[in-house]
Amino acid sequence: MTDPLLELDDVTYAWPGDDAPVLASVSLALEAGERVFLAGASGSGKSTLLALIGGLVAPAKGAIRFGGTRVDTLKRADRDRFRADHLGVIFQQFNLLPWLDAIDNVRLGCRFSTARARRTSVDEPGRLLGAMGLPEAAWSRRADRLSVGQQQRVAAARALIGRPGLILADEPTSALDDDRRDDFLDLLFDEVRNAGSALLFVSHDRRLADRFDRALSMDSLASDAGRTTC
Ligand SMILES: Nc1ncnc2c1ncn2[C@@H]1O[C@H](COP(=O)(O)OP(=O)(O)OP(=O)(O)O)[C@@H](O)[C@H]1O
Ligand SMILES: [Mg+2]
Repeated sequence: MTDPLLELDDVTYAWPGDDAPVLASVSLALEAGERVFLAGASGSGKSTLLALIGGLVAPAKGAIRFGGTRVDTLKRADRDRFRADHLGVIFQQFNLLPWLDAIDNVRLGCRFSTARARRTSVDEPGRLLGAMGLPEAAWSRRADRLSVGQQQRVAAARALIGRPGLILADEPTSALDDDRRDDFLDLLFDEVRNAGSALLFVSHDRRLADRFDRALSMDSLASDAGRTTC
């Protein structure tokens, strides 16, 4: 049997200064190409979980493996390189560079990874923006002059560039109405399939769950959450 693409084994994490862990004994496995929906109430630790998977923070206990390789014990700089090579992240607040235009924000996705740059072409940022539904007239517009829905499409294109093994999406549809949300998900799924990436999509909106290969909830991952959630 092959290793899962991503595996969290009994992971516990408390933010610095907090006594109680926000995530306690969390286990999770994701196969290559799989699209998984993860639901959880506000404050239940969804973004914290993605920060752990992305190597932005390291767990106090447990193990995180990607393609069978232990990543949580890497040094900070090596975790950053791992993230740049293998993960595309759509952040909850998008985290675009406001002074760069849409296309340069997408190019940034490859800037810190030669592996990822090698898996793309000069035309790919424009192709992805078009595929995600951003009109060509907006490609050269500064990110801070784009609508929220447009910024979200740029953030998705940036995550997808260079075909990373895993896309982490942190509530990217929360600002959209139902029609735009469904349209965005259609385009995201097409491009995730095109890139051969797995997708871990976290949201408090359980109505989206049916569209995914598998749906999980934060409650089912954590056997002993030490913090009350709303
Ligand atoms: N950078 C941080 N430093 C300290 N505590 C944090 C930090 N980020 C999150 N927390 C705390 O961790 C808990 C979980 O927050 P997190 O952002 O992971 O929840 P969430 O499920 O993503 O919520 P939401 O649906 O509102 O985005 C909260 O109590 C929050 O205050
Ligand atoms: Mg969050």
